[in-house]
Amino acid sequence: MVTILEINKKFKGLRWKLVSTYLLLVLLTILLINSFINESLRMNYITEKKISLLTQSNIIADRLSYYIREINSKYVNEIIREIVKSSSMDIKSRVMVSDLDGNILVDSYNTLEGDTLNEEELSLALLGENVARHHYLEEYGKVMYVAVPIVNKGKILGAVFISSSLEDIFLNIKTTMRKFMILSFFGLMITAFISFIFADIISKPIEKLTEAVKQMARGKFNQKVEVYGSDEISNLGRAFNLMTTKLEQVDKQRREFVGNVSHELRTPLSSIKILSETLIHQESTPEKIYKEFLKDIDSEVDRLNKIIDNLLYLVDLEKENIHLDYQITYVNYLIQKIISNLKPLADKKNITLNFDEKVKIQVMLDKFKVQQSLINIIGNAIKYTPENGRVDVELYTQQDSFVIKVKDNGIGIPEDELPFIFDRFYRVDKARARKTGGTGLGLSITQQLIALHQGEVKVESTVNKGSTFYIILPLRSAV
Ligand SMILES: Nc1ncnc2c1ncn2[C@@H]1O[C@H](COP(=O)(O)OP(=O)(O)OP(=O)(O)O)[C@@H](O)[C@H]1O
Ligand SMILES: [Mg+2]
Repeated sequence: MVTILEINKKFKGLRWKLVSTYLLLVLLTILLINSFINESLRMNYITEKKISLLTQSNIIADRLSYYIREINSKYVNEIIREIVKSSSMDIKSRVMVSDLDGNILVDSYNTLEGDTLNEEELSLALLGENVARHHYLEEYGKVMYVAVPIVNKGKILGAVFISSSLEDIFLNIKTTMRKFMILSFFGLMITAFISFIFADIISKPIEKLTEAVKQMARGKFNQKVEVYGSDEISNLGRAFNLMTTKLEQVDKQRREFVGNVSHELRTPLSSIKILSETLIHQESTPEKIYKEFLKDIDSEVDRLNKIIDNLLYLVDLEKENIHLDYQITYVNYLIQKIISNLKPLADKKNITLNFDEKVKIQVMLDKFKVQQSLINIIGNAIKYTPENGRVDVELYTQQDSFVIKVKDNGIGIPEDELPFIFDRFYRVDKARARKTGGTGLGLSITQQLIALHQGEVKVESTVNKGSTFYIILPLRSAV
């Protein structure tokens, strides 16, 4: 059931605001046009009537000017009467003839003969003016009085006075205006219809967008709105769709991340649980086994610590405005130091670790962060290369960058896994990684650290042949 509140809400909406604005505008325009047409029609008709009556009265006055002196002669009187009567019929108005004192000599309606007419128009005509004015009379409605002098040889002998009803003119105007109002009404209806459709076109996408935003507020990020055209509203829709796609991605990443973290933490925890439970339930365990189990528990705790440390470090790196501690760095020396630190690790597997310095480079870097990246890349090369293998590190320049190339002849990475190795927790061989103690966060951290220096990490690899990692950093901060 639709409540009054809902109806009220609907009528307060954008659609109704638009429709009522359009209607109001059109109504105002119609009213203005209406009064303009009314006024100009009135002016036109009246002016036309004025001119026509003045012309007619002048013609009558002209014809009478020959006879007026002889009005007392019965014969002439008849002629004058005839002229007045026929003119009155022609112009459908009352025609009167007065003498110099304003006495009515002939009246086409007969009733005023012998009376004196006190109209201002007549007085002015007897003074020589042509006068036409309109009045409103209670009895007859709107009338026009026209008076012109009868002149013979330059002498005013009397006047012709015409009284003509204007009612037919006003009736004409009324009929025209009524037709106009009917047309306007249809115009208004059409405007209402078109503006409703138009308002619907504008308000529908906004309503849909609002609904989608509400759904998003409820946590449903997979909202998309249909977009047509290229106006402001459809651009808003496009921006909205882009935003929801991004949000969806972020939400997916967040869920994956939480899933991965819980999974990664659970594995060492379950190992610890199993190891400790075995120890608890086994009676009289030999001390040697005891120690071995505790060692395992200890290494699992180390692993947990490493994962948590790396995770916290990654979260730190993702913060905006992260601070880089730039220092003048002699890159050759930095690599030499890392190599000598990792040498024991390589020696353990009898891996040849070689450094080929093609150039000498000194630049501004966050020494600690670049060192971390290199330890991970060279460490990986040693970690993922079988015994008796070799790892070659090379330093050279390339356009406006310098490159640290780390090449091993180890196990390599399958081509279809290459795009993922920089993802968090991604490890090619999960079982082996557990043995080697990898968390799968090293490359992800490395990539972010190098990106912070406006550099990039690239990789080429062939399974069982080896991998080559390139750390490419800009030279522009060279000193
Ligand atoms: N040089 C390499 N040769 C072969 N595989 C590699 C090499 N470097 C990285 N990988 C693969 O990429 C995965 C991700 O490397 P990453 O450094 O991120 O993690 P990790 O070495 O397993 O763990 P961590 O660095 O956190 O100790 C590794 O698990 C490994 O499978
Ligand atoms: Mg690593």
